[in-house]
Amino acid sequence: MNVHESEKIAGILEDAGYRFTDSDKDANVIVFNTCCIRDNAEERIYGNIGAIKKLCLADKSKIIAVVGCMTQQKGAAEKLRKTFPYVDIVLGTSNLDEFKTALTALKKQKKYVSIKGATMDAGKDLPVYRTSYPNAWVNIMYGCNNFCTYCIVPYVRGRERSRSPEAVVSDCKNLIEQGYKEITLLGQNVDSYGSDLQGVTFADLLEKIVTTIDGKYRLRFMTSHPKDLNDRTIEVIAKYPNICNNVHLPVQSGSTKVLQEMNRKYTREDYLEIISKLRKAMPDVGITTDVMVGFPTETEKDYQDTLSLVKEVRFSNAFTFVYSPRKGTPAAEMVQIDEKIQKERVMGLVALQNSITKEISDTYTDKVKEVLIEDVNPKYEGTVCGRTECGRLVTVKGDPSLIGSFVNVLITRSQSASLFGNIVE
Ligand code: 5AD
Ligand code: SF4
Repeated sequence: MNVHESEKIAGILEDAGYRFTDSDKDANVIVFNTCCIRDNAEERIYGNIGAIKKLCLADKSKIIAVVGCMTQQKGAAEKLRKTFPYVDIVLGTSNLDEFKTALTALKKQKKYVSIKGATMDAGKDLPVYRTSYPNAWVNIMYGCNNFCTYCIVPYVRGRERSRSPEAVVSDCKNLIEQGYKEITLLGQNVDSYGSDLQGVTFADLLEKIVTTIDGKYRLRFMTSHPKDLNDRTIEVIAKYPNICNNVHLPVQSGSTKVLQEMNRKYTREDYLEIISKLRKAMPDVGITTDVMVGFPTETEKDYQDTLSLVKEVRFSNAFTFVYSPRKGTPAAEMVQIDEKIQKERVMGLVALQNSITKEISDTYTDKVKEVLIEDVNPKYEGTVCGRTECGRLVTVKGDPSLIGSFVNVLITRSQSASLFGNIVE
C-alpha cells in the first residue's frame, strides 16, 4: 500500500516537472512517506528525518516533505514542527493530491501543512510513476472499518471507501495493454470490497476483471480477512487460471480468546475451516499470514495455541510481529506483557515458521514451476529472479531481457524461503 502511494507521490512530482534521483544530495525535493503501524516504523522515520538535518542546513532550497499515516496521528504535525523545523510540507493520507499546490505555495509561504480527515475520494485518480514492472499495484478501496483493538489503521486512514468496479477494471485493462504482466489489487480488507456500493462484491470484481481482460497475466490481491473471505470468492479464485492460487490471510493469533480480545470476529476453528476450504478448492494454494505475539492478555497457553495453529496450517510464509502499543487504540490501555517474554515468544515463533518454510521449499526440488521473471538478483551475478504463482522467489541464470517473461523452471535446490533452478523449454 505504502509503496504504491509513493508511486503516486512520484507521479505527481513527475507531472510537476521533477525527475527521480537516488541521491539525497542531488534531490530538490525529499519525501518521507511514513508508516505508524508499529513503534519501530515510527522511530525509524524520525531517525531518517533527523539524518538529513546537515544536508538541509547546507542547502536551504531543498524541500522536505513528510506525508502519510504518521502525520495523521494526534500531535504528530506539532512534533515535526518542533523537532525538525526544516520540514516544509506535511500532508495527511487524504491530502496527497495537494502536493503540487504545496510546492507552488512554498514560493510565497514558509510551510504547507494539510491533514484533513482521512476521507480521500475513492474515485480520485492521481498520476502514477510505476516502479515495479512487471507488477502493477491497483487500489480497489481505501480505509478500514474493522477496528482490531491493536491497530491504528482505521484511525489514520478512515472508513472503507470502495472504488467503482468500472474504474478498477479500466485501470487493470490499461495496465495489461501497456505490457504489465501482473496486477495486485490492494485494500486493507479486500473481501469487504463493495460493501459501500450497490450490488457488487469482491468475487464479482475479480470475475469482472478476468472476464473483461484476455491474455496471459497474473491477478493477485491483498489483504484478505478471515471474517469476510467467503465461499464464492474461493470458488472464483479457483475457477479462473489468471487469478493466482495464493492468499494472504492474516491469522494474528491461534487462541480464540485472544482473537476475541483483538476484535477479529472469528475463532481458531473458523480460521482452520477456511484453510481447509481453500485447500479443498485449490490443493496447491499458497497461504501466507501475519502473526502477532505478546498481545496484552496473551498467556503461555494462548501462545502455545498460536504455535500449534502454525504447525497445523503450515503456512508457506509468515510475517511475524511483536505487539506494539499504539496510542489511542483500546489494546494500548490493557495490561501489557513483559518485553522479555514477548521477545522469547517471537523467537520461538520465527524458529518454528523458518523450519516449516524450509520443509516446504524442499518439496519443490526436481519440480517444474512457471515463474514470472521480475528483476535481476543482485546477490548472484548473471541471474534474474521471479515468483511462482504461489509467491515463492526463484532465482535462475539469465539476463535482464527476461524481465516480464513467463518461463518454466526446473527447481534444483532451495535455501530457506528461496528456490534456485534452470530455465527449461
Ligand atoms: N503491533 C504489532 N503488529 C501490528 N500489526 C498491526 N498493528 C500492529 C501492532 N499494533 C500487524 C498485523 C497486521 C500487519 C499489517 O501488521 O499483524 O496484519
Ligand atoms: Fe488493522 Fe484490523 Fe483493519 Fe487490518 S483489518 S487494517 S489489522 S483494523
